[in-house]
Amino acid sequence: MSATAAVSAGAAPAERDRKLEHIRLALEERMQLGQNFFDDYRFDHAALPEIDLDQVDAGVDFLGRRLAAPLLISSMTGGTETAGQINRNLAAGAEQAGVAVGVGSQRKALEDPTKADTFRVREVAPSAVLLANLGAVQLNYGMGVRECREAVEMIGADALILHLNPLQEAIQPEGQCNFAGLLPKIGQVVREVGVPVVVKEIGCGISEATARALAAQGVRIVDTAGVGGTSWARIEAQRAGDLEIGELFAGWGIPTPESIRQLRQVEGLTVIASGGVRNGLDVAKAIALGADLVGMAYPFLAPATESPDKVADKVRRTVRELKICMFCLGVKTISELRRVPLLKKVVR
Ligand code: FNR
Repeated sequence: MSATAAVSAGAAPAERDRKLEHIRLALEERMQLGQNFFDDYRFDHAALPEIDLDQVDAGVDFLGRRLAAPLLISSMTGGTETAGQINRNLAAGAEQAGVAVGVGSQRKALEDPTKADTFRVREVAPSAVLLANLGAVQLNYGMGVRECREAVEMIGADALILHLNPLQEAIQPEGQCNFAGLLPKIGQVVREVGVPVVVKEIGCGISEATARALAAQGVRIVDTAGVGGTSWARIEAQRAGDLEIGELFAGWGIPTPESIRQLRQVEGLTVIASGGVRNGLDVAKAIALGADLVGMAYPFLAPATESPDKVADKVRRTVRELKICMFCLGVKTISELRRVPLLKKVVR
């Protein structure tokens, strides 16, 4: 099914249009920043790796389960029939390839339970690590621990992601911009929701100071979602008909490699790196910079408009690229990869 052509029946027109518009616009190349900050780094090649490529194992443990590789298909969508098909393709592909997967914001399904099925992917991903998703700002707009639990139970999730998206909300025509006093509310969710909570950005990165504040509230997993990939400033500016503000803020935020470095300073944190990760070499660099897991959204969106197999193919390709990189560094495991020095290229 084409993601851009299909229109769901159940959703109210404004919301349906917004979800479809997000997918349609996110698929456009021009919504990418166009600058890969991982290109600023390089590894030293090992011409004599002294290992067999077949011995390279990219497996890691995450939330008590073994993944084939340190990969997460990042949260994207839900709420319409098209979005539901995308979620099922992402989840079934993740199940096939042995990686983790998140659904998009479940707010609309909490408000209108007829939309819950577009997020329910457990049937096609019985053993995958599955992550629920809500915007943290919703904690200031009538949602609390009860709704967070409902989102988790709705899909049988292993953890809850709360996303932080002040820039998107500020540019979005219908944005919800009261971010005051969210921190203690996030802390209450962490203490009471009953599953691990991941806090992420959506493309502007998370600083060490923010991560320390979150850690003080009990957050143990933080996802950079730094700048370098999908630009929500561009997407929302396009929707608002104000391209100038989109360009002004397209590069706003902390580049993902820098955000990883900052989060790594916070003791005891599990760091997920995402935002502009585009291939297995970027994944390897993110791990060597200190990430425990690596997330990608945009690279899986087009495959997910086609089939679970296309999603699984994209995962396997990324894992193959990661393993080739590990082989040419002479490392057999992800924990060894984390100790490999990464060199910053000299900019001329
Ligand atoms: C997103 N992203 C996102 N994140 C989130 O936490 N909740 C959400 O509902 C969405 N929705 C969404 C829709 C679409 C179409 C895309 C492409 C992305 C953000 C996503 O998870 C990720 O953080 C950013 O896109 C940065 O990663 P990439 O795209 O540069 O790999």
